[in-house]
Formats: sequence, structure tokens, C-alpha cells
Amino acid sequence: MKELIDKIRAEGIALNEEVLKVDSFINHQVDTVLMDRIGETFAEHFKNHGITKVLTVESSGIAPAVFAAKHMGLDLVVLKKSTSKILGGEVYQSTVSSFTKGTRYELTLAKKFISPEDRVLFIDDFLANGQAAMGFVQLMEKAGAKIGGIGILIEKSFQSGRKMLDDLGLDVYSLARIRKMNEGMITFES
Ligand code: G4P
Repeated sequence: MKELIDKIRAEGIALNEEVLKVDSFINHQVDTVLMDRIGETFAEHFKNHGITKVLTVESSGIAPAVFAAKHMGLDLVVLKKSTSKILGGEVYQSTVSSFTKGTRYELTLAKKFISPEDRVLFIDDFLANGQAAMGFVQLMEKAGAKIGGIGILIEKSFQSGRKMLDDLGLDVYSLARIRKMNEGMITFES
């Protein structure tokens, strides 16, 4: 998506070979005009996929997911990051370990917001090692719901997430794909 790639070129800062700072328009301050266009682009791409619900993970996925859900006329469910296993039958949970941040949490979804009839679109800001997306996939397996697609703003194609999701046969649509990075340098997939 040209607008997103242009914005990354203008304001994204490659801190090293692995981490891209985008806090002026995604992670801290949010460019709402760009997010609206992003939502519209996801809605257009996934319009014939039979999507019934949009899901994301708190916190940076929420902005693009809100706009995508709005453009699709669907509800959005925000998966929570709980630090402990919640006992009881009210929720589905899946453990996610983040390589980038060295954190671990229980991705949590209330059972009342998902059903086997659902066909879900998952939206997130980054695809790095795919751990959040894999947590989502496991939650959908537990819920018996179908996955209609995965929409990503920035994919770091040199990390393992993309291949992992491709190997599962999932439809992954990334708006900006970074082939490699280094301090001050970002190369996109053509
Ligand atoms: P993965 O889900 O693809 O495996 O990613 P990983 O665990 O490695 O990433 C953990 C967190 O770090 C995620 O945010 C992810 O969005 C973020 N992240 C990964 N690579 C980058 C990067 O190059 N730049 C930035 N800015 N963030 C990156 P999170 O912990 O869920 O945080 P948030 O959604 O609350 O912001």
C-alpha cells in the first residue's frame, strides 16, 4: 500500500536489523487519516471472504482494526493480554511468548464473543515472529471458528512469522513488506 510505505519511508526509523520505530503514526501517536485508508484497503481486499467478525490484540492493533471493522460494517473483538491463566469456563486462552519484547502473556477471548459460525479476520500492526498470530490461530481452534484472513500493516518478511502462517495455508495480506533493515536503511519487497 503506497501511502503506508511512503509514511514508513518518511517517518519510520530502523533502530537496527530487527526493530522499526513507527511511534509517530502507529504505536504511540496514531495517524487517523492513514488508519482510515488502511481500514478501507483491508475491507476491499477481504470483502468476498465471508468475514463475520474482526479480531485484534491490544494495544497497537486496535486503531487499524477499528477502521477495518467500520468499513466492513462488523463488530471488532479485542483480544486481551492477561498475565495469568484465568480459571473457569468463561474464556479461551492461549500462551504467547514475544521474542522481540521478551514477554509472555495469555491471549484471552471471552467465549460469548465467538462462535463456530464465525469466520474471523485478524488484524495486527506487525508480523515479526508470528507469535501473536499463532496465539490467535490456537484460540480459533479452541472456539471452533474459521479464519477468513490475516491483515498486517508491517510485515518483516525476513523473520519467521510469514512462513509459519503460509505453511498453515492462511491468507495473509500485508500492506508493507520489509525485506531487510539496518540502522537508517529500510528495503521493501517489490
Ligand atoms: P510476533 O507476534 O510477530 O511474534 O512479534 P513479537 O512477539 O516478536 O513482537 C512482540 C511485540 O513487539 C508486538 O507488540 C509487536 O507488534 C512488536 N514488534 C515486533 N517487531 C516490531 C518492530 O520492528 N517495531 C515495533 N515498533 N514493534 C515491533 P506488542 O507487545 O503486542 O505491543 P503493542 O501492540 O501493545 O504495541
